[in-house]
Amino acid sequence: MQRSKLALASLLLALAGCSPSEQATAPLQPVADNPFKLSGDVKHIMQWVLDPAADAVWDSAGSIITAAGTRELAPTTDAGWLAVEHNAAVVAASGNLLLMPGRAVDNQGWQNIAQGLVDAGLLAQAAAKNQDSDALFDAGGQIYRVCKSCHSVYIQGDEPEQSP
Ligand code: HEC
Repeated sequence: MQRSKLALASLLLALAGCSPSEQATAPLQPVADNPFKLSGDVKHIMQWVLDPAADAVWDSAGSIITAAGTRELAPTTDAGWLAVEHNAAVVAASGNLLLMPGRAVDNQGWQNIAQGLVDAGLLAQAAAKNQDSDALFDAGGQIYRVCKSCHSVYIQGDEPEQSP
């Protein structure tokens, strides 16, 4: 049993055109929690990586109306824009984390939506780099629609709380 698994592994490595030692440094290793508990793993990416980053992008896009009047949320300093750019990059990178083997729930819908998250995150990143508040607002909306579309398909029961 062990032996045939090994044989299969070396065959696959040969097919992939890399030696076992190269394989040992393969970059794609799910790290959060136990990789066999798929949903727990995705949950931690949501909680620890994606949700805080998306919140930071949304908190910088558009305007809010308060008792004191309308307040624009867009950053007013270079450092503020840079922080949005970084968080948008984390959103984009989260799409890739969700695409990793062991996390992607299927080979179709999940992957398309996760790729959509990469694209939306990159749009927001470019908007922040250009300090373009309108483009950031649109990209924020696109990110939000991607969250919704995945949750509506892949979460049974109540949807998680999402700002904005
Ligand atoms: C490719 C699919 C996918 C995308 C895209 C996605 N999510 Fe999720 N999300 C899930 C799944 C699946 C769960 C349920 C995980 C579980 O409970 O095991 C979840 C759960 C959550 C949770 C609840 C975590 C908890 O504490 O239980 C939050 C918050 C969340 N997502 C936020 C977001 C936000 C914000 C976005 C967009 C920026 C987003 N998600 C995009 C699949 C996705």
